[in-house]
Amino acid sequence: MTKRFGARRKSINLSIPNQRLVRAFGLTNTFVSAGTAVRDQFRRDALALLNGRASRLGWAEYLEVALESVKASLSDERPFDQFIQITTLRIILIVLLGVPSLPEELNGDDLQITAGLISELWDQSKTSSPTDKVKLDLLNLHLRRLLVRDLDAFPNPLDIVIPAWETLWRVIATTVAYVHDNQSYREAFGGLRNSQDPGRTFSSPNAEDGSSVQSIITEILRLHPPSRRIHRAISCSPFFIPRALKGVFRSTRLEVADIEALHRSSEIWGPSSNEFQPARHDESKESEGIDSDRKILAFGSGRLQCPAKKWAPLAAAMAVAAILEFLESDSGYTLVRGETIGSRKGWEGWMIRKMHDIA
Ligand code: HEM
Repeated sequence: MTKRFGARRKSINLSIPNQRLVRAFGLTNTFVSAGTAVRDQFRRDALALLNGRASRLGWAEYLEVALESVKASLSDERPFDQFIQITTLRIILIVLLGVPSLPEELNGDDLQITAGLISELWDQSKTSSPTDKVKLDLLNLHLRRLLVRDLDAFPNPLDIVIPAWETLWRVIATTVAYVHDNQSYREAFGGLRNSQDPGRTFSSPNAEDGSSVQSIITEILRLHPPSRRIHRAISCSPFFIPRALKGVFRSTRLEVADIEALHRSSEIWGPSSNEFQPARHDESKESEGIDSDRKILAFGSGRLQCPAKKWAPLAAAMAVAAILEFLESDSGYTLVRGETIGSRKGWEGWMIRKMHDIA
């Protein structure tokens, strides 16, 4: 069951469970530092990016960037996961980090190597092998070339690229995988693409089954939360010890919230808990007094929850809307399905392919 992280203000330490990320990526942010000052500053920086250029840009321009990013990432044939990774990286660099380039100006090799190395080092961090310093340096080199901007603005760009890109590309990929062959869901995303007010259209029930794009994204986050488990190290001391000695006898307890298990629990979500049914999130159904345990915890909970909680779902949806535009029948591109829907890995067989005219 979920632990309520937010209640234990002084005793939470995020750095211990994430030591593997320090090793693999040399991160200096909230995921790896014990200090609340580092955490507060990093949160402020992340919010400044979201409330800064990302919100100044507006959704119409975001869509333009997304469409151009998709176009620039297409080639005759490309693995689907790689295509989504590169498209998403273009979007994040321009929209969130304010890289002053057009999507097609960002070097394709730098993007592909950056995306590939993040995934590789992430995998490696789960093993006991030491940090691959050569690959980490290479990753930073290619990422810096993409950023163009002065080093002061991003002393360690991976600090923000990792939490933003690592989550967003997988939500986008999974959503495209679920909706690309469903006419009604595609139309709902088409409505979002053509809307003058995407913020409102996002939550309007546009699909045949009464679901909105927002409920589609929520259902994706329920079935495939990018962070399947959230870890905390709770620092504690036995209550019978005198106050003066508490600092000396502190111990650390690791706690895990199994988000995926809660999201898929049939006790909470009913017998269809493992099925993709966006309409279950409709407001009308929610107000029918369904179990209050029906919570989406993909962004965490309490005061440490993701600062992009509001921005990311619509940002993912607009990117999906842009991708679907290129998968319409007259676009010249087609999505080839693989056996199963992947996550960070597991996209074997999925391809984006250019259809050549049959003369
Ligand atoms: C759908 C996409 C995303 C999901 C599902 C997601 C999920 C999460 C989760 C589960 C956490 C940890 C919460 C906790 O420990 O309780 C987190 C933290 C964080 N996320 Fe996201 N995230 C997403 C997108 C983004 C984006 C686009 C950004 C870019 C600004 C971002 C920035 C952060 C930061 C800075 C933190 C650390 C917050 C802190 O420690 O105070 N996330 N996110």
